[in-house]
Parts: sequence; structure tokens; C-alpha cells
Amino acid sequence: MELLPENQQEFFRSKAAAIAHPRELVIDALRAVQSHHGWVPDEGVTLVAALLGILPIEVEEVATFYDKIFRRPVGKRVIHVCDSICCWTREGEAIFAYLQEKLGIAPGETTADGVFTLLPTCCLGACGDAPAMMIGLTTYGPLTPQRVDEILAQVRAEVSA
Ligand code: FES
Repeated sequence: MELLPENQQEFFRSKAAAIAHPRELVIDALRAVQSHHGWVPDEGVTLVAALLGILPIEVEEVATFYDKIFRRPVGKRVIHVCDSICCWTREGEAIFAYLQEKLGIAPGETTADGVFTLLPTCCLGACGDAPAMMIGLTTYGPLTPQRVDEILAQVRAEVSA
């Protein structure tokens, strides 16, 4: 599968050539690869480095730092469940356990139908809505088992639409 369409490659190539610090574009370029390809393989890291004119290690160190950049294949939707303090004090562990039971997967795994990957994450900045989780760019909370059921059904319907 193509890592990034040629027009987007050209966009990053020319933008990198026009600025003093092309490393500023690493996250945007990695997200573009991920958005197009679903995750960022080694070849994606090499491609981003070439487009920006920097070393692959400079891309890799960013790619492995951020938990929203996926260096392994993931499902069509990644569920990031907050395991930080506010969510923990408001039954976040129980919600995480419920998600594992409901989806039949452990943290880091993907459902057999390839729809969901389940990952823990640090604070999502939604502490007022704890316990919280994020799917794609949407944050959900406060979560209850019933609310989780509704959200999973809604996202499944969107994915299969
Ligand atoms: S601690 Fe969970 S969103 Fe902040």
C-alpha cells in the first residue's frame, strides 16, 4: 500500500526546503503517513526523513515518543483509555477492564474483525469528564459501561457505513 500520495510528498518536500528547521514538520508528516496508510512502518520513517532532508533517527525518536503515532498495524479505530490520576480516582480501571471484556482483547491487541485496538494513555485533558477515552480525534466521558456500549455501537456503525 502506498505510504503517502505524491502530491502530499511534494507538499512536505517543498515546505521543508522553505523553512529553517524542517524537523518542525516531523509530526505533521508522520500523521499524514498514518492517516493515509493506517500506521507508520519503517519505510514511512525513511520516507519522512527523505522528504524533510533529515536523518531517519530524528524521525524515529519522535515517532516512538508519541503514543498517538502507531509503529505497528492497528485496527480501523484506536481506543485510547486514560489511566491517569483523575480517571483512576473515578473508576477508570473498571472502565478499562469493561472495555477489555466487552471487546475480548487485552491492552495492545486488536479485535478479530480489525475494528478496534485498545491502548492505555496518559491524561487526555478531559479530567472534568473522567473517566475518559479517545477514539480518533473525539474524546468521550464521563464513561459508564452503558455509555461505552453506546459509543462502541456508534463507532462500529460508522466504520461499516
Ligand atoms: S486524568 Fe483522565 S483525562 Fe485527565
